[in-house]
Amino acid sequence: MALTDFDLVLFGGSGDLAMRKLLPAMFSRDVCGDLPPTARIVCVGRHDNTTEEFIETVNSTSRPHIKNPKVTPETWARFTSRIVYVSVDATDASSYQGLAQALRDEPGLTRVYYLATPPALFAQICDNLKENGLVTRESRVVLEKPLGRDLESAKQINREVGEVFEESQIYRIDHYLGKETVQNLLALRFGNILFEPLWRREWISDVQITIAEKLGVGNRIGYYDTSGALRDMLQNHLLQLLCIVAMEPPASTAPDAVRDAKLQVLRSLKRFTPTTLAQNIVRGQYRAGHVDGQPVPSYRDEPEAPQNSRTETFVAMKAEIDTWRWAGVPFYLRTGKRMADGLAEIVVRFKQIPHSIFQQPTSSFQPNSLVIRLQPDEGLRMNLMAKTPGEGMRLKPAELELDFRETFKTPRMDAYERLLLDVLRGQLTLFMRGDELEAAWEWVEPILNNWEQDDTAPLPYTSGTWGPAAASALIGRDGLQWREEALPED
Ligand code: BG6
Repeated sequence: MALTDFDLVLFGGSGDLAMRKLLPAMFSRDVCGDLPPTARIVCVGRHDNTTEEFIETVNSTSRPHIKNPKVTPETWARFTSRIVYVSVDATDASSYQGLAQALRDEPGLTRVYYLATPPALFAQICDNLKENGLVTRESRVVLEKPLGRDLESAKQINREVGEVFEESQIYRIDHYLGKETVQNLLALRFGNILFEPLWRREWISDVQITIAEKLGVGNRIGYYDTSGALRDMLQNHLLQLLCIVAMEPPASTAPDAVRDAKLQVLRSLKRFTPTTLAQNIVRGQYRAGHVDGQPVPSYRDEPEAPQNSRTETFVAMKAEIDTWRWAGVPFYLRTGKRMADGLAEIVVRFKQIPHSIFQQPTSSFQPNSLVIRLQPDEGLRMNLMAKTPGEGMRLKPAELELDFRETFKTPRMDAYERLLLDVLRGQLTLFMRGDELEAAWEWVEPILNNWEQDDTAPLPYTSGTWGPAAASALIGRDGLQWREEALPED
């Protein structure tokens, strides 16, 4: 579907996200021919720059992030000719005049306000846009995380933004939903007859969802130290992945069909009590170690990190979903910085065969599992038992593998490219609805409250490992292992 002409307004236009992700994403769509010839990107920032000066900054700051081989002086010049810079003090309604003049007021023109700013500014920006008559029926607003830091602040964002924009105009981004393999999970579950009948407690023993990063906190300590892994990754990305794995089949991919199904999962998550929480959640903080053979500092020694910080950089938990489909099936969730490897994957493990007809005991059969790899290499791997060649009947684990890059040679889109296109097309399916956001915070909040009152520090773990030993013990209690622990040594 071709895009109609648009003005994409980036608040936080000179910020890190715009430079690293949003502008490169728009460039890629531009060279692919997706952008209408007169579409524009209006970057809004505090500094008093001219458009020419701003484009100089884009040249030096954003262009190095562009991996697209089609970047040439011509394609780059065409792209930057779409950029307009406007200086606005987001908190001052009278400073929106410049923006009002820069925006086109044409019938049918899509106007998108992308708020890549701290959430404390969301309400003021929305109010000021309204006060200046800049919110049209064709306007949409995109909200970047963090979307609150607890239930109350999330409700406040929903309320305040909701006073200016209709729910159907609000796009809450979780960039994990824009990843190719996440959508492939929908294809796998609902485009094949094979899995859905087995996708339930009778056949599945447990699910593991891991997002592990080798990176540390980098230069984001100011934000991260007040956030931590639970708020930064689990409340949003991991819970969204869990929803896609666990949701009931929606009737279609219409936004509310999918979002209703996800909401149902969030509302069915078993609540933690102080006791179950202590038993089922492990939090850790990285100490000095080695990642890829390079020495890396302890979290508390990162520039500007508080020496006594109790912020978690790792969380592992056992969650449960109280429904007929999932009762009793543990969902192990785990995320951390400075881990042994950088990967995101979902592992669905099926139950053991009930009886062995072969000359080997049932316990020698590795239960089937399906590994859905989101990154770094996107693919699906089905682990099966197969006969080893030759005489006799010995069964060994073997793999069926689908490598998306090999199978589909078409160029892929980065998550932000896809999500920006969806916003510009008005497709809400891959964005969170307000009630989903609140349900996710509601479930996470008892954990946050408990940690706040608890003055013990997170467990230390050495950088370059898979986190504190307690995380292995958590899953080990159920007689299981995290996937990498179960893999044979190379
Ligand atoms: C962001 C978090 O939402 O996701 C970061 O704020 C994290 O801390 C990032 O590094 C991970 O995203 P990806 O796509 O690189 O796995």
